[in-house]
Amino acid sequence: MYKNLLVTGGSGFIGANFIRYLLEESDFSGRIINVDNLTYAGNPDNLTGTDENFPEKYKFIKADICDKEEVTKIFTEYQIDSVCHFAAESHVDRSIVKPDTFIQTNIVGTFNLLDVARSHIDSIKLFHHVSTDEVFGSLGAEGFFTEETSYKPNSPYASSKASSDHLARAYYKTYNLPITISNCSNNYGPYQFPEKMIPLMILNAIEGESLPVYGDGLHVRDWLYVRDHCTAVWMIMKKGIHGETYNVGGNNELENLKLVKMICEILDDNKKLPDNRPRRELIKFVKDRPGHDRRYAIDFSKLKNTLGWSPEESFESGIKKTIQWYLQNTNWTDRIKSGEYLTWVKEHYGT
Ligand code: NAD
Ligand code: DAU
Repeated sequence: MYKNLLVTGGSGFIGANFIRYLLEESDFSGRIINVDNLTYAGNPDNLTGTDENFPEKYKFIKADICDKEEVTKIFTEYQIDSVCHFAAESHVDRSIVKPDTFIQTNIVGTFNLLDVARSHIDSIKLFHHVSTDEVFGSLGAEGFFTEETSYKPNSPYASSKASSDHLARAYYKTYNLPITISNCSNNYGPYQFPEKMIPLMILNAIEGESLPVYGDGLHVRDWLYVRDHCTAVWMIMKKGIHGETYNVGGNNELENLKLVKMICEILDDNKKLPDNRPRRELIKFVKDRPGHDRRYAIDFSKLKNTLGWSPEESFESGIKKTIQWYLQNTNWTDRIKSGEYLTWVKEHYGT
């Protein structure tokens, strides 16, 4: 179906899980070209073994999607016939402190990819754009985001993603570029950079460091195990209708404070860890995030009813698996924490 699939941001959290899923578990039979410029969030360790295990089916290229000339070269040299676009600056807190790179990568980078794809329109079978539920803004106590919900992004990150969604839609409407878009809720699972809530709380709780809960801790997120996001994206890529958007969610709303307490309890049960103090004593309420969205909740009935997708992992098993993963993969976590993997990147990719 797709012979040469360009995956952008494949060395980040979801991109790496997606590449692993495609190569190790799915019916994908083509070749993946992973284009990633390895920002602090891009980590070659996330794909350890992939080069060796799939030499014919996997190629990494260190490149910046903001560099249009380089993107053009890649499309031509690797005869790209499909795109799954994950690359982005993805952390809301960073976008509040310094929005600049979010505008560049998320808007200009997406524009470059779309525009280069347009210049290869005869050979492009699909451009899938991976986006977020944050484009819809914040919900009150009731209701869900549907594909019809109007866009009301509240952070520089969310507005840059909203902008990229509009560009993708426009390239379908104006140029007939075969586009699909997915808007997904909060992911968690292996290989997530520990600036995001779940891995941050897990690693801090393991080490006995404080667990910073923003504001009153009653903000709600709809958590989805990352593999379920990957199966959704692949299903949309195979069966989705061009020009359509699909919401992806976990049907699993949880208040932040409850989630942190849950992580603490699971770790308290692990008798091998030092420090027998209940880990919830580490919880510390800190200043709220500016513009902090109160609640996200996704209605994914379109994806369920039209393409037959549903999440497979329950939150209870997913969070236990995830905690286990961070406990077992100490090479990964130690390297992340020490920043040593940056040296590794330099050695391996000569940056
Ligand atoms: P991440 O920050 O873990 O990974 C982003 C990857 O993109 C990194 O490997 C990074 O090096 C790469 N990248 C950044 N700028 C680049 C550039 N200019 N050129 C090439 N590569 C670049 O992000 P993630 O959590 O894996 O998210 C992936 C995508 O999914 C993003 O588009 C994000 O908006 C979307 N999304 C994330 C979530 C979530 O919960 N994490 C939920 C819904 C949607
Ligand atoms: O909804 C999808 C989005 O989910 C993605 O588009 C983003 O890329 C991804 O980062 C995530 O955004 P959030 O802002 O929801 O995720 P984060 O992990 O940063 O925070 C989750 C919740 O936890 C949020 O309400 C803020 C809160 N929080 C976060 C951190 C890092 C804390 O209370 N303390 C913290 O230290």
